[in-house]
Amino acid sequence: MAQSALVLGGTGLIGSHLLKHLLESDAYSSVICIGRRSTGITHPKLVEHIFDLIEMDRHAELFKADVLFCCLGTTIKKAGSKEQFRLVDYTLPLKAAILMKQNGSKSACLVTSMGADSASRFFYLQVKGDIERAFTEVGFERTLIFRPGGLMGKRNEFRLGEKLGIGAMNLLSPLMIGPLRKNRPIYAEHVAYVMSHLPFERISGVRAYESHEIQSLYNSMS
Ligand SMILES: NC(=O)c1ccc[n+]([C@@H]2O[C@H](COP(=O)([O-])OP(=O)(O)OC[C@H]3O[C@@H](n4cnc5c(N)ncnc54)[C@H](OP(=O)(O)O)[C@@H]3O)[C@@H](O)[C@H]2O)c1
Repeated sequence: MAQSALVLGGTGLIGSHLLKHLLESDAYSSVICIGRRSTGITHPKLVEHIFDLIEMDRHAELFKADVLFCCLGTTIKKAGSKEQFRLVDYTLPLKAAILMKQNGSKSACLVTSMGADSASRFFYLQVKGDIERAFTEVGFERTLIFRPGGLMGKRNEFRLGEKLGIGAMNLLSPLMIGPLRKNRPIYAEHVAYVMSHLPFERISGVRAYESHEIQSLYNSMS
């Protein structure tokens, strides 16, 4: 039976590809996108709600679908402070997950990052590790975590540091073997494709997919 999906971060690089795939997929009968601005997409299966996510408790009843897809994220530079970064990458995804679980969702997908680890020396990876743990503890029947390496794809904004970093990683990618494979850059569209095509009914519990595993899944699915 076709499922309903709720997407957070649908205006972002992964989220916009994800929306496209979910809307095209027969496995999803309806797609809700909640964000602070419109995706600009009109589609019979799509319902958008636009408000400041800080106020999500006031709209708790809207956080209802079979599957939650969370592609929210920012950078410390964009957010302006570590506190604001943590708000977007930890507090908002967690609050949304709790509301979704309360409203009956059984499945949740979360995008974090390669190296996500609460014990990391790096604040970014620490926050990603923290949200993985908290999100998992919400207790969905299935929680799928995606840890991509540097994301490739066309962005509307220019991020110099990211572009240089991913360019270098891409050159080194063939040398990333063994335990280094999880650092391989990947196209955002490939991550989105895998998220939208995973057979949830055949997965239970918590699964985390590293960058090279997402790539292998994409290669076998597409
Ligand atoms: N960039 C990389 O190379 C990389 C690598 C590995 C993992 N990741 C992670 O992968 C995930 C998706 O990355 P991405 O590059 O696709 O993200 P992105 O393009 O930066 O999009 C982020 C999404 O989050 C939304 N958002 C940010 N701040 C918000 C706020 N205060 N309130 C409401 N919505 C907010 C954005 O909405 P607006 O459009 O309104 O801003 C957008 O929809 C993130 O968690 C990121 O950390 C990224």
